[in-house]
Amino acid sequence: MNIVWDFSDRHVMVTGAAAGIGRATALGFAAAGARVSAVDMNAEALAETAELSDRINGRTCDLADSGAIRSLVEAAVSEQGQVTVLVNNAGVDRRIPFDTQTEEQWRWMLSVNLDHHALLSALIAPGMAEAGGGAIVNMSSTAWMKLAGNLTAYHTAKAGIVGLTRGLARDLGPKGIRSNAIAPGRVVTERVAGEVSDEWVAETQVLQCIPDLIRPSDIADCAMWLASDAARMVTGQCIVVDGGVV
Ligand SMILES: NC(=O)c1ccc[n+]([C@@H]2O[C@H](COP(=O)([O-])OP(=O)(O)OC[C@H]3O[C@@H](n4cnc5c(N)ncnc54)[C@H](O)[C@@H]3O)[C@@H](O)[C@H]2O)c1
Repeated sequence: MNIVWDFSDRHVMVTGAAAGIGRATALGFAAAGARVSAVDMNAEALAETAELSDRINGRTCDLADSGAIRSLVEAAVSEQGQVTVLVNNAGVDRRIPFDTQTEEQWRWMLSVNLDHHALLSALIAPGMAEAGGGAIVNMSSTAWMKLAGNLTAYHTAKAGIVGLTRGLARDLGPKGIRSNAIAPGRVVTERVAGEVSDEWVAETQVLQCIPDLIRPSDIADCAMWLASDAARMVTGQCIVVDGGVV
């Protein structure tokens, strides 16, 4: 079954859009007619994303820098109008043993995985409300539910994203803004595709109820559903897209 989404003339901001899930999401919204602000700190890879569609505008920004986030929002809104769909997707799953990590590493992990979700949402929500409402989609993960090792800071951020998502749903719902999260399972992005062994594929197919690999476009499709009117009464949820890991 083919689903045709229509985001004609909506301004959609997708972070972490230079690669993987973010790139697939930016392309999905662009194909559905949106004007897309694709945000990433990797300028070179971001330019490659922007070359894939003339509806995508690449905006280089380090989301660990709150001043840069403020400038990003100002420029994006003044050039392309109010953002009515925000996909907070950028993240880094750096493995750091908890007992040897430095305070600086801990703060950095929360900054690149959690803080910018909150700051971007706070800066964009007033304009979104003024424009009649919209949707925020935050990228969590199943990693913290499955207890993967050496990822405590990442788990803290990804679990925090679910709390943030629910708080935003409560506070922004009366203003016409829905807030949901996606928790992807094992997604085969370009970054990991080259490292995937036959054993990993076989293990994944046994772990999942659906014995197929999860592609970035599977997560993009979920983000588009959550942002669409088809999910008009869905808010405060975290949708697990993991092929049914048991
Ligand atoms: N791939 C998976 O299996 C998987 C599973 C669960 C959750 N996730 C989450 O989905 C999201 C996307 O994952 P992915 O696999 O596509 O990752 P990816 O590494 O392929 O892409 C992430 C992008 O975010 C950008 N980024 C990182 N830090 C940034 C910063 N400070 N400022 C601006 N841009 C920054 C990177 O440059 C990169 O382009 C992440 O939040 C990740 O935690 C991924």
